[in-house]
Amino acid sequence: MTHAEATARAEFLRSELHRHNRLYYVEAMPVISDKEFDMLLRELQDIEAKHPDLLTEDSPTQRVGGAPIEGFTQIRHTVPMMSLDNTYSEEELTAFFVRLQKGLGREKIDCVIEPKVDGVAITIRYENGVFKHGATRGDGQTGDDVTANLKTIKSLPLRLPKNGPQTFEVRGEVFMPRAVFDKLNKEREEAGEQLFANPRNTTAGALKQLDSKITARRQLDLVFYGIADATDMEVQSQEDMYALLDHAGLRKADLIWRADSAEGLLKAIRELDERRRSLPYETDGAVIKVNAFEDQRQLGVTSKAPRWAIAYKYQPEQAETKLIAIDIQVGRTGALTPVARLEPVLVSGSTVSNATLHNFEEIERKDIRIGDIVIIEKAGEIIPAVVSVKKELRSGEETRLSPPTHCPGCGSRVSKTPGEVVLRCTNPECPEQLVRRLEFLAGRSALDIAELGGIVAEALVKKGLVKHPLGVFDLTLEQLSNLNLGSEAEPRVFGRKNAEKVISALDSARKLPLHRWIFGLGIYEVGSSTAKELAKHHASISELISSPLLRDVVLESELEERRLDCSPQTNKNKSRSLEERNLLKEQEASIRSELNAVQQRLVGCGFARYSKAEAGSPDKKQRKITTPIGPVAAKAVLDFFSSSEGGETLRRMEGLGINPLSGPQKAGLNGPLAGKTFVLTGTLESMSREQAGERIGQQGGSVTGSVSKKTSFVVAGRDPGANKIEGARNHAVPILDEKAFLEMIGEPEPAAQPAPKTIKEDLFG
Ligand code: IVH
Repeated sequence: MTHAEATARAEFLRSELHRHNRLYYVEAMPVISDKEFDMLLRELQDIEAKHPDLLTEDSPTQRVGGAPIEGFTQIRHTVPMMSLDNTYSEEELTAFFVRLQKGLGREKIDCVIEPKVDGVAITIRYENGVFKHGATRGDGQTGDDVTANLKTIKSLPLRLPKNGPQTFEVRGEVFMPRAVFDKLNKEREEAGEQLFANPRNTTAGALKQLDSKITARRQLDLVFYGIADATDMEVQSQEDMYALLDHAGLRKADLIWRADSAEGLLKAIRELDERRRSLPYETDGAVIKVNAFEDQRQLGVTSKAPRWAIAYKYQPEQAETKLIAIDIQVGRTGALTPVARLEPVLVSGSTVSNATLHNFEEIERKDIRIGDIVIIEKAGEIIPAVVSVKKELRSGEETRLSPPTHCPGCGSRVSKTPGEVVLRCTNPECPEQLVRRLEFLAGRSALDIAELGGIVAEALVKKGLVKHPLGVFDLTLEQLSNLNLGSEAEPRVFGRKNAEKVISALDSARKLPLHRWIFGLGIYEVGSSTAKELAKHHASISELISSPLLRDVVLESELEERRLDCSPQTNKNKSRSLEERNLLKEQEASIRSELNAVQQRLVGCGFARYSKAEAGSPDKKQRKITTPIGPVAAKAVLDFFSSSEGGETLRRMEGLGINPLSGPQKAGLNGPLAGKTFVLTGTLESMSREQAGERIGQQGGSVTGSVSKKTSFVVAGRDPGANKIEGARNHAVPILDEKAFLEMIGEPEPAAQPAPKTIKEDLFG
């Protein structure tokens, strides 16, 4: 790999890893398996090891986890929460043991082996023997205070025995028991709700709930595996720690092995693999730790993981089955995705009948044919994938699928963007795309119209009632009530009640903040975090249309590309004649001055900041900037609004009188609640706490998690938290009941509800 290739690859890997990190830690919506993530990370580590000049301060190899989520108070960990290095083969595990031997200078090293619980890492602190608080790992240094949610876990003692440790900080893993997960999904299936992907994501979601009543319903559980602080106790080893956990009534792993040789480790991990499916939690590996703390100290830690422990990851479970057919799905952006229909087969405890095939090149590369016996794999992840074909089992009857030339939804020709593997239907009126776009617009993170799911969207498009996603705003109550979701022979009408709910949700959607609308438009490359960034820097949709900021971002990246193209520093120009290079130098200088001007504009208005000069960069003269929105997304936004489809969207929004504005950051600056800080507690009858927070934000106020003397108001709904109410009293902060709050934000009182208890009854009654 040349240096230039390595530079490009490292940059690509960094941005991919950042993206996946965010999807995993912040959005709890991973799209690749842990193993794939590790492979990317390792590739980057390798490049950085070979080319130390490419190592950047913000490289994902330099840190442990992701950023903490918004909405919770942050807790700084007394001892950082580290991660573990992973191994995927017995050879690598043996190599780890050899490193231990070298590090400690002896042959036998006493180790413990535990299941690696696939949940969410947590730290729990007891002070004076009483449960004080608990936090997620967050970025390893600071995590979210999820105390209230942890208290819902029945197995967690809130007080330790008198003769036990008094100051005690323990580390463990929160999980959703497999049985609870299965039951929950069964109920959701019966209710026609979307299924949860896997226990780990569900656990993360439950822990992130601002309303701990929802967490309680999720019946989470905990296993402990380490201590961060046990000042008043004698603990010299993992083994001592197990005894202490037992004594304190904290649950430890159900299976634990001891071994002091490489063979012993291998034996233990094989045995664990045999038995782990009978454990009540999902496991994705084994954790091997040196037993004696003195040995641990001697071995030390790297910047992200201890040298005295390692995770051994099991191969994801595979199964063999027959590929019956390949369907082609048309996505929201027209992307055509082949999906394998399989003879149902049991993998990792669930029946699988579909698997993703990613794209048509992959079908060709793996030579997958209809009728083949295929191997599918489920890496504890969302959708299983077809990994390979058993070619030796072919009968000759199998058929190839050539990539489609026409869209299965509308019959128009498909196209392929150079450099992309995806085939796309380019017909903006394709009904299949329209269904997906409508479903997306109605989704939770966009307009949140719960009753408008895929089936309703499909019926609306099929019946010709909706010809553009925004067409839903023109639907009448009658049209919706009479909508037939079944067939002609077996009609199933949507019904008046559901129709009313949709109409009222649509009405509320008009007032949603800008970022929800930007996201809902489904612009290519604009996810919910990009949408939020866009809304932070633009007050309305019309500001986005020809946004000078976005134009500058695109221009900056084009100029940088042109500059590099003629830089005499780059390899390709190094072999040119002196004369040519002098000419290039002049060109570069002129581009450079234009580039600097654009950068200054972006930094000057607070949108961008200069990034630190990269260590060892060959080109120290050129400053670099970082922007919250990259050139690809910026261009996609500008392109969308100048496309005919974007134009149609704008016309429709104008016609409907919908003009969403930015939330707190911009529109609210002069709002009536500017400078006021609110704490919300208890259940409100007329809106969720999240919605209440949004309203406050729209009017310039802000919401925090705990009461202090800086708090302006505490809004107390039904069953408010005792701590918050007490805090309000201590700091003489006025407490508003829901009615008073609604008055303050200028909302009409909701229609009569089943008489909510008044705040006075609740607190003082
Ligand atoms: S020991 C210094 N033991 O795996 C970190 N971790 O990939 C020591 N995990 O952050 C961790 N089961 O969240 C340890 N028996 C176990 C574990 C375990 C699950 C998690 C933990 C850790 C992650 C590292």
